Amino acid sequence: MIPYLPEAFTDFSKPENEAAFTAAFERVSSQMGQSCPLIIGGREVHTDKRNESRNPSNLEQIVGFVAQADKAIVDEAFQIAAQKFTTWSQVSPEERAGYLFKSAAIIRRRKHEFSSWLLLEAGKTRTEADADTAECIDFLEYYGRQVLQLSERGKQTLVPYAGEDNRLEYIPLGVGVVIPPWNFPLAIMAGMTAAAIVSGNTVLLKPASQTPVIAYRFYEVLKEAGLPDGVVNFVPGDVGEIGDYMVDHTTTRFVTFTGSRGIGVRIYERASKVHEGQIWLKRVIAEMGGKDSIIVDEGADLDLAALNIVNSAFMFSGQKCSACSRVIAHEAIYNELLDRVVERTRTLTIGDAINANTKVGPVIDQKAYDKIRNYIEIGKQEGRLVCGGEAWDNPGYFVSPTIFADVPADARLSKEEIFGPVVAFTKVKTFTDAIAAANNTEFGLTGSVFTRNREHVEEARRTFHVGNLYFNRKSTGALVGVHPFGGFNMSGTDSKAGGPDYLLLFTQPKLSSEVL
Ligand code: SER
Repeated sequence: MIPYLPEAFTDFSKPENEAAFTAAFERVSSQMGQSCPLIIGGREVHTDKRNESRNPSNLEQIVGFVAQADKAIVDEAFQIAAQKFTTWSQVSPEERAGYLFKSAAIIRRRKHEFSSWLLLEAGKTRTEADADTAECIDFLEYYGRQVLQLSERGKQTLVPYAGEDNRLEYIPLGVGVVIPPWNFPLAIMAGMTAAAIVSGNTVLLKPASQTPVIAYRFYEVLKEAGLPDGVVNFVPGDVGEIGDYMVDHTTTRFVTFTGSRGIGVRIYERASKVHEGQIWLKRVIAEMGGKDSIIVDEGADLDLAALNIVNSAFMFSGQKCSACSRVIAHEAIYNELLDRVVERTRTLTIGDAINANTKVGPVIDQKAYDKIRNYIEIGKQEGRLVCGGEAWDNPGYFVSPTIFADVPADARLSKEEIFGPVVAFTKVKTFTDAIAAANNTEFGLTGSVFTRNREHVEEARRTFHVGNLYFNRKSTGALVGVHPFGGFNMSGTDSKAGGPDYLLLFTQPKLSSEVL
């Protein structure tokens, strides 16, 4: 088998790529406004109640109408998924991996179509959308290979013992509920789903209500790849109506969730309750928020730091759990760095993601827009506004990249996740103080350090408590298989998506020992 390698990003400066993207975008645009059904055991279910998915760059555009499950439909989906589990769990890892490889090939061929859906439904610019699509392909290719390695791992890890045939097999868990986020609505949604099913589980996939159309398009790929009916059941619905119900259900064996701290904690608490008739302890795999710092040391390359701060803080309007929302800078270079970051930020073009020169698109919805605006008001009390601060909600939800200077390390802006294009600068006297300030949150996801000091590199390695620590590079953009991704504390359950241990979370090891 060809070894796994991350998918290359598209170079849009080449006219042939630009033309291919434009053609795909036109095709996709003509498919907007269609209805997407629920899929239960391969059967399409249309409902009277539908969710209107709108383009966050232009709220007049309806991307699609998506059916909405109620509790009765959820019950039916659980029943079908449980039934299907009895056969799917017995399918060989090789065959299961094959569906992922085939799906990756389909998406690779139609890459720009998927990126176009991301542009329209999530407001991603074409480079951001292209990275999301590439990451989706990566998860499919990587987990397909990982499940094959998992079978080998069981054979190789046991201590040989004379006169016995001992085997460790990683068997699937059962029926899972997949609750992905809207911010990587293709890559993370597909990655969570693929990991669950390639490990032999069956699932109910409940896409984010902001981005259900792209999830439906992914379901269509699985179908085209020949995945048997009932392995993935597509169950969009109102979180208030079916969210808790799915988590609480006695058929649920595990929940895999990526999203906010608040919902993650709620799922974790609810899943811990053992209900009448339930014969297992539910497993929760949760990827939650971040309050990610970039530390800039005295003597660091300030241009490199400024470039990466701007990219980490403002690409996709800061709507990544890995996004930089704090810059903690040594007092010797603080003013110089701030000036360079502000200067670069002022050159960013904000607007509809459809425009090729847009660098910062919209935020996802009204709730996000209101929350970010509120934090901008808080920032005005806690620090000095030096850039941005404006927001407008017509024709989409736009917020200017915003920088606050002189924010105390214990301010709300320094500790709470905003999930928008807002960054707070804090001045410190020593490198050790910088790490202490960065660690002073309940999260522990990503962090970057810009330094030329070898001792400081090692100090950060020892004491900066984040799951993904980067040096002299941005805090975003983890590559599948290269930078396994996930964090500590309130950032989640320490799972590492895109890493060699991830599939263990979707399996349980079974030992068999036969006397020879
Ligand atoms: N994995 C993404 C990143 O590294 C965030 O989810 O930016």
